[in-house]
Amino acid sequence: MALAERLFRTKPTDQIVAEGGHGEGGDLRRTMSLWQLTLFSVGATLGTGIFVILGQAVPKAGPAVVLSFVLAAVTALFSALSYAELAGTIPVSGSSYSYAYATLGELVAWVCGWCLMLEYAVSVAAVAVGWGEYLNTFFESTFGFSLPDSITHSPGDQGGVINLTAILIVLLATWLLLRGTSESATANTIFVYIKVAVLIFFCVVAFTAFNSAHFTPFAPLGVAGITAAASQVFFSYIGFDAASTAGEEAKNPKRDLPLAILLSLSIVTVIYVLVAIAAIGAMAWTDFDPESTEAVLAVIANMATGSTWAGAIVSFGAVISIASVVITVLYGQTRILFAMSRDGLIPKIFEKVNPRRQVPVANTIIVSLFVTVLAGFVPLGQLAEATSIGTLFAFAIVNVGVLVLRRTRPDLPRSFRTPLFPVTPVLGVIFCVLLMSELAGVTWVAFLLWSAAGLLAYFAYGFRHSRLNTGSIR
Ligand code: ALA
Repeated sequence: MALAERLFRTKPTDQIVAEGGHGEGGDLRRTMSLWQLTLFSVGATLGTGIFVILGQAVPKAGPAVVLSFVLAAVTALFSALSYAELAGTIPVSGSSYSYAYATLGELVAWVCGWCLMLEYAVSVAAVAVGWGEYLNTFFESTFGFSLPDSITHSPGDQGGVINLTAILIVLLATWLLLRGTSESATANTIFVYIKVAVLIFFCVVAFTAFNSAHFTPFAPLGVAGITAAASQVFFSYIGFDAASTAGEEAKNPKRDLPLAILLSLSIVTVIYVLVAIAAIGAMAWTDFDPESTEAVLAVIANMATGSTWAGAIVSFGAVISIASVVITVLYGQTRILFAMSRDGLIPKIFEKVNPRRQVPVANTIIVSLFVTVLAGFVPLGQLAEATSIGTLFAFAIVNVGVLVLRRTRPDLPRSFRTPLFPVTPVLGVIFCVLLMSELAGVTWVAFLLWSAAGLLAYFAYGFRHSRLNTGSIR
């Protein structure tokens, strides 16, 4: 077979679906209901974006940041519709990696899987680092003491030696994931209820200090300000696609995955818009500090109540929120690698399922070790920016995947069809490319280097072991 033909060979959709759920040595267990899947995506989405980045985005757009959240949601919606269509057609665990394999071929699927490591493994390490900071804020505001810098920062960062708090949250999440998917989903469900309750609490408290004068002028920095803030708050929507990594553990994936993706996006959009209105109503937009990395919502809650207890509750919410992002995103990474391993593109150990627990134990431990080292020893500020570019690339591929699959396999049963086809997936691609083009040059360099390393790994291992190419598909 010619090289190009091998590189762009697609994996038959029916075969991907038929393999779903099966790993080496055992099968995954179908335990997740529609509501659990929805909360799973909400768990992966609601995190630092609303607690911290809101504060940095307000000075860019003024009160019109509310519209920035809507604009970012619309951008996310185009891709969410494409995710929903493909998740309902190919309901497996590999998310956009599997969709790319079915539509654009092995090489693109590999690059996509490699980029998903930026969206999942690297971002979870960055989020774990942030978690330590909120834990400290919570300790300070509630108990009046804080942990020493040496164990809350990475080496070379503010006197850090080893970031033990970041390691702690990764280990806790790993422990939960190893107990089983149903147990992790239950813990996540509780965490999501807590974080939503805390954000509702915030809205109630902030509305008591509501001043409508804070909304005039509404858009002091014009349309440019609104779009600049929108590209920044887009980060807060990343994660709605997490349910697409749980396709093989869903009870009724064809029906539930598309619904869970769209429901979770709707839920977080409503929450974000309400929180943004409440925050600006309570604190004039000119008082927001664009450089602050504090949980700004805690500051506003304290101001509105004139005491520190409200801020302590909000900081607690931030700690819980970020913990649930760590659990769900870590889970997603293991399932994407599971799918890649089943295709022979990475070593077999990643698809081994422990027959008793019905989770990929070795896979989970290896991923956790990798994330632990990153989280404990590497200052992740810069790297975290790479998350967005990797995510947007994966989103763009999913939109292209919908366009391709409608042409190549119009006959496939689709439990959800994106409306206004082909306008929505085309707009999805355009929005992703636009947001990618706004990212910094250094982020692009990191992305290209990362992709080059991925290609090397592919030709060194994946190309030679691919089950599709070696004909050893089970
Ligand atoms: N959407 C996730 C967050 O805001 C990444 O933390």
